[in-house]
Amino acid sequence: MTASDVTGPGAPAVMLNPFEPGFFDDPYRQYATLREHDPVHRTPLGSVALFRYDDVVRVLRDPHLSVEERHAKLELPPRSPEIQALFDAREPRGAANMLNLDPPDHHRLRRLVSKVFTPRTVEGLRPRVQALVDAHLDAVAPAGEMDLIADLAFPLPFVVISELLGIPDSPDRLRLREWSGAIVKQFDPILTDDEIRAAFEAADGFWELANELVAWKRSHPGDDLLTGLIAAEEDGDRLSADELVEQLILLYIAGHETTTNLIGNGVLALLRHRGQLERLRDDPALDANAVDELARYDSPVQMSRRITLTDLEIGGHHLEPGSVLLTCLGAANHDPARWGPTAGDLDLSRRDAAQHVSFGGGFHSCLGAHLARLEGQVAIGTLVRRFPALDLATDAPEWNGRIVLRGLTRLPLRLA
Ligand code: HEM
Repeated sequence: MTASDVTGPGAPAVMLNPFEPGFFDDPYRQYATLREHDPVHRTPLGSVALFRYDDVVRVLRDPHLSVEERHAKLELPPRSPEIQALFDAREPRGAANMLNLDPPDHHRLRRLVSKVFTPRTVEGLRPRVQALVDAHLDAVAPAGEMDLIADLAFPLPFVVISELLGIPDSPDRLRLREWSGAIVKQFDPILTDDEIRAAFEAADGFWELANELVAWKRSHPGDDLLTGLIAAEEDGDRLSADELVEQLILLYIAGHETTTNLIGNGVLALLRHRGQLERLRDDPALDANAVDELARYDSPVQMSRRITLTDLEIGGHHLEPGSVLLTCLGAANHDPARWGPTAGDLDLSRRDAAQHVSFGGGFHSCLGAHLARLEGQVAIGTLVRRFPALDLATDAPEWNGRIVLRGLTRLPLRLA
């Protein structure tokens, strides 16, 4: 079936359309229609979005697909002269981060960073993560209310990744948060001129700051990830100076943006499913599976992207080289063909919850997944047990308006 088959007379008009009212409150309804009627969907921008679990997994695991933008053959809509001038004036960076690189560069860079993210090393951080969560909850307990995002979901992963990298907590935290928000907005398929301008400014600001941090770290080495990366750079042919800065920015941003959404989306889902929240509160043995189920139920990352280098057949469709594939992780996580009739339910004891694709798949699968799971388990488990009467203090949570990195900007809670 193709898009034209289902948009003919009498057929439902299906289109991936984040402008549809209610999309940010619940994108899963639109995904369900698309998965049913046009699972290999050509978007108005020419990319091809995939909504079925099997298609998404197959694409993520296909080692012959690329992540490098230069291979994409997309007819982009014309830009305004002012925005085009901004693009033309930008100097190309001398390097990229691993998320945007194919092998062999991807593998070389990933090997350098992966040592720090093994399950064992990450498990060693548990006492520190617990102490941070306790301190953040101590700070809000007397007031009897909190904004989950500002008081826990953002600062926790931000401090954890800063400490892992060996960077002192920055007085510029809020500016960094704003910059990362503007940068990650670029993952979305549709951007306004203002968003493009903000993303460029943020990228320049972050680049400058990351260079300053590297310079500072050279004179303050420690037992941390950034010192390790600098050693690899000084070694000469393992990591160039620009590559070092690019990986630092990626880790800084990937290390907190996504985990903030995991904690925010996860707590909201629990508060909307009181019975599940109570099960978790009464049974800490559920923590690990609960976090995977919450990541499945409302994924912090809704889409990733691959580009075909050769002809590809998928779901009866033929794709030319240079096609851009959007793997819709959120839709795959709710596909009844994979999860059965309870696909759309929240079930913290779901047996195969960890088979979700919220951490991607294949060789770009999330490097920080163990860390994200640890932070999610400690933050959410501790919160629901410390405040047994925890409740929403709003009927209208504020979504961040991002299609790809789906999360909340504010979530006011009553603690007692
Ligand atoms: C709940 C939290 C998180 C989610 C949902 C998440 C999700 C993802 C996804 C879907 C990808 C693959 C993107 C693709 O296939 O194109 C990815 C890659 C990556 N993530 Fe995460 N992430 C999370 C937390 C973290 C953390 C805490 C870190 C680091 C400290 C991190 C570091 C990375 C890196 C470095 C990559 C690139 C891997 C590569 O290209 O080989 N992530 N993440």
